[in-house]
Amino acid sequence: MGMEERQQEAGPAAGRLAGDQRRRAAGISVRIHASAELACQAVAEEVLELVARKPSAALGLATGSTMVGVYAAMVEALLDRPGALDAVRTFNLDEYLDLPPGSPSSFRAFMDAHLFGPCGLSEHQVSFPCPPSSPALTSAAEPIGREFEAAIERAGGLDLQLLGLGRNGHIAFNEPGSGMDSRTREVELAPKTRADAAATFGSLEAVPFRAVTMGVGTILEARQIRVLALGAHKADVVASLLAGASGLGLPAAYLAGHADVCLHLDAAAGSRLSAG
Ligand code: GLP
Repeated sequence: MGMEERQQEAGPAAGRLAGDQRRRAAGISVRIHASAELACQAVAEEVLELVARKPSAALGLATGSTMVGVYAAMVEALLDRPGALDAVRTFNLDEYLDLPPGSPSSFRAFMDAHLFGPCGLSEHQVSFPCPPSSPALTSAAEPIGREFEAAIERAGGLDLQLLGLGRNGHIAFNEPGSGMDSRTREVELAPKTRADAAATFGSLEAVPFRAVTMGVGTILEARQIRVLALGAHKADVVASLLAGASGLGLPAAYLAGHADVCLHLDAAAGSRLSAG
């Protein structure tokens, strides 16, 4: 759609495969799948291929409705491979601050329901940037996120980071205005982000104002990054991202130029891109 797009084939197998279009735009490899289900399966396969190659992989995990299908595909694929995730370490991108204890809306609860529980991950395997019911910690003596970043380092760095995409271009909870070198820290949520989370919490008033997020700089250190965006409501942000937006205004644009980043889309999320 008049978008400046550098279209290159991603490799010999790439091109106009039925239902799986590949291109490259604004420094990001893109795969457009015929359906959300196929997109989720492709991402799940990439994670499981990594784990097959490296059973002790350090996985950066994401939450949000986009990830439900990815984790469901992983759980299904692992049904006949119990124990396949026994040696992985996982690091989640973010968590809300100020939730009531035991809140079903925490990202920890999401992960327990969709992946950790069904795949039997143990407590010692999983890390979050803060516990689900932490109060805001701005004045804490130990800067929030330091231990989390140290744990990622001890695990040898992230082998693969999964990411969703906020409608305002955020990755994790790195809202517009976040710096490219930002590290794990406490952040204030953008009004659009809180509005998008209202359905999960039952009302806008119940959505926390603050969270702790992995930083952009932390994310960019992952060896592989796989981003997934599904649905027509993501089509505008995807089009802006691939038109070459700036990272300061649209944090996902910081991913451009990462050595191994791929954006997986379903047809609806890719519907505002020019044909090709
Ligand atoms: C939240 C999370 C992000 C996620 C985004 C998109 O803001 N912090 O990591 O990518 O939601 O959510 P959904 O997948 O529900 O669209």
